[in-house]
Amino acid sequence: MDNNEKYIVCGGKRLRGEVEVLAAKNSVLPIIACCITVCGEVRLRNIEPLTDIKNMLLILKSLGGTYLFDGSDLIIDCRKLNKHSVSRDLTGMLRSSVFILGPLVSKFRRAEISYPGGCDIGLRPIDLHLDGLKNLGVSISENDEKIVCDGKGLHAGLVRLAFPSVGATENLIMAATLTEGTTVIHNAAAEPEIVDLQNFINAMGGSVHGAGTGTVIVDGVKTLHGGEYTPIGDRIVAGTYLIAGAMCGGKVTVRGVRSDRLLSLTEKLRAAGAGVTERTDGVTVESSGRLNMLRKVETQPYPGFPTDLQAPVSAMMACSKGRGYIIENLFENRFRHTVELNKMGADIVVCGRAATVRGCTLHSAEVMAEDLRGGAALVLAALKCEGTSTVSGLKHIDRGYYNLEEKITSLGGIIKRVENSCV
Ligand code: UD1
Repeated sequence: MDNNEKYIVCGGKRLRGEVEVLAAKNSVLPIIACCITVCGEVRLRNIEPLTDIKNMLLILKSLGGTYLFDGSDLIIDCRKLNKHSVSRDLTGMLRSSVFILGPLVSKFRRAEISYPGGCDIGLRPIDLHLDGLKNLGVSISENDEKIVCDGKGLHAGLVRLAFPSVGATENLIMAATLTEGTTVIHNAAAEPEIVDLQNFINAMGGSVHGAGTGTVIVDGVKTLHGGEYTPIGDRIVAGTYLIAGAMCGGKVTVRGVRSDRLLSLTEKLRAAGAGVTERTDGVTVESSGRLNMLRKVETQPYPGFPTDLQAPVSAMMACSKGRGYIIENLFENRFRHTVELNKMGADIVVCGRAATVRGCTLHSAEVMAEDLRGGAALVLAALKCEGTSTVSGLKHIDRGYYNLEEKITSLGGIIKRVENSCV
């Protein structure tokens, strides 16, 4: 998975044009895991081969499932899937490997995985996933090496999550889908990607209701059948391009995403002085590139401001006029990119979960992405400032942005992917 590439970015250019976003990574990952419980072929539309998605597919393959890319369709067949244990090297590749617990327990009444890996943005425990499964009758034993779930006693039931975790909500929905009776998840997360998982399951013959609210109800069915499904567009990728347009100036239209799912961002873009036009399937941002500072950005579960756009918006704030604050409520270590932004002339001071940003003129620099969204923030800063910057650590960016350089180039930005050894 390691790659030795970097971006060379010649900044200071206005961005103009349209980009289309395809299926949301955070929808596709649980949907791929859910295919474990589907008795038939599934065809998913609009899929980009992001690193995280490819790694999730490797997990599926290691369990005996098959997959095939047919253009932008992804065809998955888990009818012959016959293993319930995933090795440490595979689970270590991505946090979302935890999603397979629910489906495996549901299908085999047993699952074994090592602790999941993923972006280093904080502790990221999985206690809520495990506690929820225990509430549904699963016995769990853990040691340094492995988590072993014995689901012989799996039953429908009532779970109240201590925090509305996106992943735990999804895992529990998947565990309950083929479990006889009605399972109710209280204090569920309400992210659009959970609604998407619900819609996928229902399209395959399941019965899930309430996703998008704090209470999700799953009526267990005997089996899920195959079929076709188009996951929702990626609102975080869309948001990243909109922020790029606002920062660099010009006019950028993003298509393929519902504008009502980006309200917490578009409200901020307007407050910064950018013009925003919303249509049902997209958003246009128009900007002079001179932005007012946002007074306060505070990350919250949906429909609040998404933690995944915190780093990109911090790059925007770094070059806005005035002083503002960011509060990161979701993850305890999600400001690492600010050290790199400061190398580009930003003035961001972090204290615990809060950051104070004083707007400046950014300059070019050599910087290193250390996580997915932080990496995107560095690319945005490099596009904004005059001069030539390099952004290395592309393996992080590639987890969630497919051919970012092509999309940015189509908008008039100057960005090239090169081997790290090249100057
Ligand atoms: C998902 C998204 C991720 C996004 C995050 C928050 C996917 C694949 N990833 O991650 O991009 O940043 O939602 O919107 O959908 N927590 C616990 N115990 C748990 C689970 C979570 O304490 O068992 C904590 C986490 O450490 C974090 C908070 O709850 O502080 C939110 O995490 P969660 O909503 O679970 O995020 P993920 O599902 O990991």
